[in-house]
Amino acid sequence: MRSLLKTKTAMALALAVSAGAAQAEGDVEVLHWWTSGGEAAALNVLKQDLEGQGIGWTDMPVAGGGGEQAMTVLRARVTSGNAPTAVQGLGFDIIDWANQGALADLNKVAADEGWDSVIPAALQQFAKVDGKWVSAPVNVHSTNWVWANKAVLDANGIAQPTTWEEFTAALETLKAAGVTPIAHGGQAWQDATVFDGVAMSVLGPDGYKAAFVDLDEAVLGGDKMKEAFDRMAVIRANVDDNFSGRDWNLATAMVINGEAGFQMMGDWAKGEFLNADKVPGQDFLCFRFPGTSEQVTFNADQFMMFDQGGAVSKEQAALATAILSPSFQSAFNVVKGSVPARTDVSDEAFDACGKKGMADLAAAASSGNLFGSMAHGHANPASVKNAIYDVVTAHFNGEYDSETAVQELVDAVSIAK
Ligand code: BGC
Repeated sequence: MRSLLKTKTAMALALAVSAGAAQAEGDVEVLHWWTSGGEAAALNVLKQDLEGQGIGWTDMPVAGGGGEQAMTVLRARVTSGNAPTAVQGLGFDIIDWANQGALADLNKVAADEGWDSVIPAALQQFAKVDGKWVSAPVNVHSTNWVWANKAVLDANGIAQPTTWEEFTAALETLKAAGVTPIAHGGQAWQDATVFDGVAMSVLGPDGYKAAFVDLDEAVLGGDKMKEAFDRMAVIRANVDDNFSGRDWNLATAMVINGEAGFQMMGDWAKGEFLNADKVPGQDFLCFRFPGTSEQVTFNADQFMMFDQGGAVSKEQAALATAILSPSFQSAFNVVKGSVPARTDVSDEAFDACGKKGMADLAAAASSGNLFGSMAHGHANPASVKNAIYDVVTAHFNGEYDSETAVQELVDAVSIAK
């Protein structure tokens, strides 16, 4: 199956070369999944930057948080010989496309712009394959965050929880007051995003790495993993009845509007608060999932430049250069909720959550507490990620108890890897 896919992809790539790009010369066609209000506002920063350089933008949005649907559309486009110019990509997916020979060589742009010395190693491992730069990192997000409505917490006498026990006490208080404790969207990638923080809080950094990076069966099937699933069951008991299928940004809106107390979500959620004119510390709180204050589970959005036949095009080079410019890195990430993909950008323009995000990232990188997010394709390839998704979601929806879930996790991962 895999080799058939590879052959199909190779044929399609050859077709892509002969068919050429669909958009007019001088334009870039960008496939992405930034369709929420906050995401669209951030994307505009990039569009305007390029338009200022006379480069037109052909938009190819594919709704669906986490990018699964966008990746399906991408595969279809490549298979039909019509790869977009630039595509939003995450972690192992980028490596996979590079290994299939689908991506253009950005080494000249990278050398001219000095990427090697300003892009951190944690990102280079997903942007540079066999010594060749193949994508331009836009940002660094992280998943182990909690977002809270400050007025709701204040009205119920709840201080920012720092431990699991304080967190569950807060959930009880909100429930008793008739407020939905946790805003959540029941989609596999969102369940997995919550699981990133929950698993880290129970397994600790060594256990998280052993389970999701090294795929160690003893840890995947161990008592601590069972405890992580038990915590997921507590979270499930604190979401509203309509959670199933809800988009992540609608869950964020519940916190923004005071219908819910908390949301566990990556820092793209902050883009929604800002888009609604909310101010951190005043209207909302951002803090690390209790028990993970020193760890960062990250994912970085990058733009993969698809080989259009020949050398990297001048539009692709301009897009890559624009993305990595320090001024763009600041302007874009201030709006998006993420932090810069370069280590030399000032935090001056960032709000309190952004400053915390930047400081947390630097501290985690230097103390060995920075890990790729399992939920967002930075811990293992898509096949393993999807196997973990299936188990986490089945457990969240009550199909498995925690005991069964750990066993299923061991089996699913061993089949997928
Ligand atoms: C991406 C973010 C995006 C989020 C929700 C994540 O995988 O990294 O940029 O905002 O999905 O769509």
